[in-house]
Amino acid sequence: MNVRQGFAFACLLAAMVGCKDSSTSYLNAQLQGIDQPVPPVSYPELNPFSASSIALGKLLFNDQRLSSDNTISCASCHDRSLGFATNLPANPGVEQRPGTRNSPSLGNVAFQPYFMREGSVPTLEAQILVPIQEHNEFDSNILEIVAELEGDETYQSLSQAAYDQPLSAFTLTRSIANFERTLVSNQSRWDAFIGGEEFELTDEELDGLRIFTSERANCISCHNGFNFTNYEIVNNGLYEVFQDEGLANLTLRPEDEGKFKVPSLRNVSLTAPYMHDGSLANLYEVIAHYEQGGQQHPNQDARIKPFELTFSERDNLVAFLSTLEDDSFGQGE
Ligand code: HEC
Ligand code: HEC
Repeated sequence: MNVRQGFAFACLLAAMVGCKDSSTSYLNAQLQGIDQPVPPVSYPELNPFSASSIALGKLLFNDQRLSSDNTISCASCHDRSLGFATNLPANPGVEQRPGTRNSPSLGNVAFQPYFMREGSVPTLEAQILVPIQEHNEFDSNILEIVAELEGDETYQSLSQAAYDQPLSAFTLTRSIANFERTLVSNQSRWDAFIGGEEFELTDEELDGLRIFTSERANCISCHNGFNFTNYEIVNNGLYEVFQDEGLANLTLRPEDEGKFKVPSLRNVSLTAPYMHDGSLANLYEVIAHYEQGGQQHPNQDARIKPFELTFSERDNLVAFLSTLEDDSFGQGE
């Protein structure tokens, strides 16, 4: 947003939202970057953007031959029509082996500083090995996959064009990672609004924005920045006792129990059910969880505190969250 637009935006918020609250200035101070546009994606120096790399990655992302029994692909769990997430609490892997975690959206995954729900994997390229090897996902081996795909002429020619070498573990992981970097979601109604389309949001949606940013609900203290996450790994009080211990699975430290990465809220209206285990069925259940102030786990973050909304405030908060839905996302290339 340029300075002039920024000024118009600030005035607009003061006029349309701030006026509903006693203070007009605090809202502007509280936006915490959610009014910033989605920046351009940067590609790693060792894996530059190329059309052939992305074409190869896209085909591989949708190819069931990556799984040991050739029944599922990445897209089985990261579904284009569901914001590259899922509508099941957890998707089964090969041979219908039950999964344990909810498949997150891959929208704007390019901007994440680390991957997985406890942030255990540093790059998109490295992340690809996880589902390939995981017993409850593909249960396969990247070298076997490369051998199985060796005779595919389309793959071989795209791999040559993109990386100057035949299909290999190197070109498979690089190309899928670059395809994932193209999954940019920046065409929601919220994006139009911050881009200067002042009348894009309804009064109800703007009231939802007021609640989202209010000190009372304080969603913005964790879900901030252009991607509606600060990427912290925290305990949001989902349970009193966690079956899946989150970050503590990795560190074995009791103070890390129940800590998960703060997820982006972009396209959240497409990605139910919610939380690491998909245990909350819809956004009203999510809001009820936060209003209750969490289940009081010893590691629960101090920002999760009880508060109360009226029925219409709940509807308005859901309406605001739904403005983050990007209808072009998941349909285009
Ligand atoms: C059987 C379902 C399933 C399949 C198949 C699958 N994923 Fe996932 N994916 C998940 C789940 C569940 C998680 C969260 C795992 C965790 O946090 O431990 C995840 C996490 C991710 C993440 C990290 C996202 C984040 O926000 O940190 C990326 C990236 C990803 N998957 C890409 C892929 C790619 C690429 C493939 C194919 C090579 C793939 N997935 C196949 C279920 C699946
Ligand atoms: C202390 C930080 C914090 C605050 C404050 C917070 N959240 Fe969250 N939020 C999280 C974490 C962490 C998760 C993921 C928990 C998990 O995976 O089990 C999450 C998950 C969510 C999800 C599920 C997204 C998904 O894709 O599964 C939604 C929706 C959500 N929060 C909305 C809100 C709203 C609305 C508020 C304000 C009422 C709020 N959050 C306040 C940390 C926070």
